[in-house]
Amino acid sequence: MKRLSFVVVAFVSAAFYSLSDDKNKYTGWAEFLGGPERTHYSTLNQINTDNVKNLKMAWEYHSGDSGQVQCNPIIVDGVLYATTASTQVFALDAATGRELWKYKDAKDPQWYNTSRGVTYWAEGDDKRIFSSAGKWLYCLDARTGQPIASFGENGRMDLHNGLPEAAKDKFICSNTPGTIHKNLIIMPFRFSEGPDAAPGHIRAFDVRTGKLAWMFKTIPHPGEYGYSTWGKNNYKNEDVGAANNWAGMAIDREREILFVPTGSAGYDFYGGNRPGQNLFANCLLALDANTGKRLWHFQFVHHDVWDRDLPSAPTLVTVKRNGPDGRPRNIDAVAQITKSGFVFVFDRVTGKSLFPTKEIAVPTNGVAGEKPWPTQPVPLKPAPFSRQTMTEKDINPYAENKDELLATLKKIRHRNQFELPSKEGTLIFPGYDGGGEWGGAGYDPETGLLYVNSNEMPWIMTIVDKPKADQLAQLPAGERAYVQYCVVCHGNDRKGNAKSGYPSLVDLGVRRDKAFTHNIVKGGKGMMPGFSYLSENERNALVTFLYGEEKKEVSGGAGAADKYASVPYKTTGYNKFLDKNGYPAINPPWGQLSAINLNTGEYAWKITLGEFPELTAKGIAPTGCENYGGPVVTAGGVLFIAATKDGMMRAFNKKTGQLLWQTKLPAAGFATPSTYQINGKQYVVIACGGTKLGTPKGDSFVAFALE
Ligand code: HEC
Repeated sequence: MKRLSFVVVAFVSAAFYSLSDDKNKYTGWAEFLGGPERTHYSTLNQINTDNVKNLKMAWEYHSGDSGQVQCNPIIVDGVLYATTASTQVFALDAATGRELWKYKDAKDPQWYNTSRGVTYWAEGDDKRIFSSAGKWLYCLDARTGQPIASFGENGRMDLHNGLPEAAKDKFICSNTPGTIHKNLIIMPFRFSEGPDAAPGHIRAFDVRTGKLAWMFKTIPHPGEYGYSTWGKNNYKNEDVGAANNWAGMAIDREREILFVPTGSAGYDFYGGNRPGQNLFANCLLALDANTGKRLWHFQFVHHDVWDRDLPSAPTLVTVKRNGPDGRPRNIDAVAQITKSGFVFVFDRVTGKSLFPTKEIAVPTNGVAGEKPWPTQPVPLKPAPFSRQTMTEKDINPYAENKDELLATLKKIRHRNQFELPSKEGTLIFPGYDGGGEWGGAGYDPETGLLYVNSNEMPWIMTIVDKPKADQLAQLPAGERAYVQYCVVCHGNDRKGNAKSGYPSLVDLGVRRDKAFTHNIVKGGKGMMPGFSYLSENERNALVTFLYGEEKKEVSGGAGAADKYASVPYKTTGYNKFLDKNGYPAINPPWGQLSAINLNTGEYAWKITLGEFPELTAKGIAPTGCENYGGPVVTAGGVLFIAATKDGMMRAFNKKTGQLLWQTKLPAAGFATPSTYQINGKQYVVIACGGTKLGTPKGDSFVAFALE
């Protein structure tokens, strides 16, 4: 009897806890993307559809180091925490933009891995900020910005912690804030996209010590569920890796379920050495947040050879459906957008899809050695938010070289998004970055609408044979390393592809000193992975080659061996399919914003997002443009979004998609805004780093408010 009453009390207090939790939901911005549900939603309503047109800049903070900033700031107790272009961490008075502290690791050179923000954890007076740069996770005192020495190695932990020996020297960084569950932080990781990628095992660390708490293997070992969906030895991480979460996670703290979207296996574009479906690459994993045990999973792309990583954190939503008695009931669900333009919605507990999905037959004519998977899943509802094909009728009507574009399209495989990588060229559309991209979706619990901004950019992938070991042996060491590791992105001629975001290295000598180049090669920068596993000698040889100082002597020998000969191909790089003037080869729209009703699967509205002012000036209706970074939606009825290449920040009526306000930012804001209230005043803040897509650089965080 006594025992029973104890149980009853426990239940009552649990319910009470969740109620009070509900009341505080969505009021602040203390976590990445507004909270553990990653809804990008706020109950603040001081700024509304009527007065949003009166927004003014409240403050601007200059970080000093310019470059792309993807950071979504968090705000705790009136303090804003964020990261700069070179992954320095800072704290501001969120009402004035005054700097309180800034942290930069003096022991390491500046790192350039783009950061999407920081994570806060507190217990009593112990208040911590977690932030990542290079291979380190830093644990800082939230009040002072100083490392907390009892964490990891004097306040920082090597993110290799827990990975197998084979991955010890492989490139690792983390662009996206970790997710807190009790005293654990579960971290996203970014790796190489090649056969040299570390394995993407999901890992939770103790927030106090940095010790590994649990690990879920995304490339299973013998005897584990999913092992048979890979080659026999793939788990050894000799020439296959990744299947990592880089985009971030969401957590249902009441149910203690962690939702983890994963990316493709490495090498991205050939899987002959990893036969099978490749579980748990390209999956949404529901894990027990306390133990990492798998509860359920759904795989979005079987045996991925297109780099169709799940691009964003999932969104925790509540969907209305009619129950067996015909009455509407609420189902707690998790929505996941994909690069390919799909929205999938699952019951959080059972993993059952709330809209019908279907396995469709797809092409199987891959390059020699490839072992394509014959079917792929697609949702039958909601309709895709991005176009799914580019046909001959879809050539950009404003292009000056339409005939040339048409001839190119006819030459390459382009019937649908599942055309396999090929030597004649394959259209990647929706593009490498999506479709849906890392900005992720916003969700409004009031209206049940999911808000997704997306790109409509075609790319062309072309497969070529890798040079054979005897060909490589003919080259001096630096040039050989360049051919092996750098050609895919910077090209045989070292001219890169500036329009697609891959810089030329031809004139490196006049622009950059050798120390800079050394650091970039070791630690990576932006979309470039680091090559930390190359020996100091190899990196020296590379730099000598890049600065035109390498002698044509051939050292030959062991260095020429290709460790990754089981992957016989590479691509000619990441090439956008553009017209002569640099506009997409496809007809507009080139950027869109969609509002999808998750109760019905129907679109509430869909609009073109962004413009090229020079085209609008010619009388062409706004075309939309590439956009990176997500929306924020509020109880005031407003949806805020920057993201566009045109450098604007816009506010729309969330119910209709009507434009209510826009302003030119100091530099393009390729980031998701945050909104918060202090002393009765609501602010909306956005990082303006520009740089991406060839836009001017910036170094500021700008906050807007009503006067
Ligand atoms: C996966 C594609 C990729 C690979 C592989 C790659 N890079 Fe890069 N690299 C990039 C991108 C993208 C940038 C621009 C980064 C930025 O500024 O955000 C870049 C920038 C650089 C820069 C800086 C240029 C400048 O002026 O700022 C150097 C130097 C460089 N890469 C050298 C190399 C070398 C050497 C290798 C081979 C060891 C290599 N890269 C491999 C994509 C790549």
